[in-house]
Amino acid sequence: MSTNHLIDGEASITPIAIAAMAQTTDPRLRQVMASFVQHMHAFIRDVHLTEAEFERAVRFLVDIGQATNDCHNEVILAADVLGISTLVALRNNPEQEGQTAAALLGPFWRANSPVCRNGDDIARCDLPGPTMLVSGQVRDIDGKPVAGAKVDVWQASPVGMYENQDEHQPEMNLRGQFTTDAEGRYHFRTVRPAGYPVPTHGPTGVLLRAQNRHCMRPAHVHFMVSHEGFKTLITQVFADDAEHLHSDVVFGVTKRLVGRFEPHQPAPGSNEPHYTLQYDFVLERGVCCFPEPPIK
Ligand code: BEZ
Ligand code: FE
Repeated sequence: MSTNHLIDGEASITPIAIAAMAQTTDPRLRQVMASFVQHMHAFIRDVHLTEAEFERAVRFLVDIGQATNDCHNEVILAADVLGISTLVALRNNPEQEGQTAAALLGPFWRANSPVCRNGDDIARCDLPGPTMLVSGQVRDIDGKPVAGAKVDVWQASPVGMYENQDEHQPEMNLRGQFTTDAEGRYHFRTVRPAGYPVPTHGPTGVLLRAQNRHCMRPAHVHFMVSHEGFKTLITQVFADDAEHLHSDVVFGVTKRLVGRFEPHQPAPGSNEPHYTLQYDFVLERGVCCFPEPPIK
């Protein structure tokens, strides 16, 4: 095929660039890249991107890549605070048939957390803060219990830190994988998580400060619920009384993901209340697959 790549003014670049990619073998890659180039070019024209701003944008991309390692994923974090991760999660997991809403994975999921039995405690060291008992049922969209579903949970501590961020917590603390019983039920013991700041030591923190935004997430527990024959549900359940519930820095809170963190009277001999959280999950039929872990 003959091509003419001679550029005649800035307006001609967009169709020529898209035409140059027209031979892409993978049709989906061809479609995605053509749209990406179209939108990026439109964006550059819209804001009249300066050369200095282009250099700054390149620096930001280089910096988020260089700030990423096996223990920290700055690229995911940047996508999170821009609302990109939540948008992808919501677009790909509509709640149309009554299935539970999805939420962003975040940068802290780790594969292969300890396999637990229903009733186990995922707090593997003494932690300050109230006990919380979490339970619920996994069902399909027809209301039938899903027995043998894997319920992978992870959460921050009562001081708002994941074990991978905190040298005072043992390996895989506040993480575990449970299996639903014959009635599709799961239950476990933990401590009530606190809300926390997303990491701000890197380029994403620089951006948040430039935007005069706070960096806080409301208290939540993460769940990844899976079973062969069902689409894996990645979600989070938020405390109904959490600070920042209405201003999550990563836009993760949807109405139906707010769970009742119910306080109960202290047991005799204790001066602390304990909490219960009861939350059911509804899975959609589909392919069971898992994301790439953001950290090791
Ligand atoms: C999290 O929920 O673990 C999370 C999500 C986005 C940014 C930081 C943490
Ligand atoms: Fe989290």
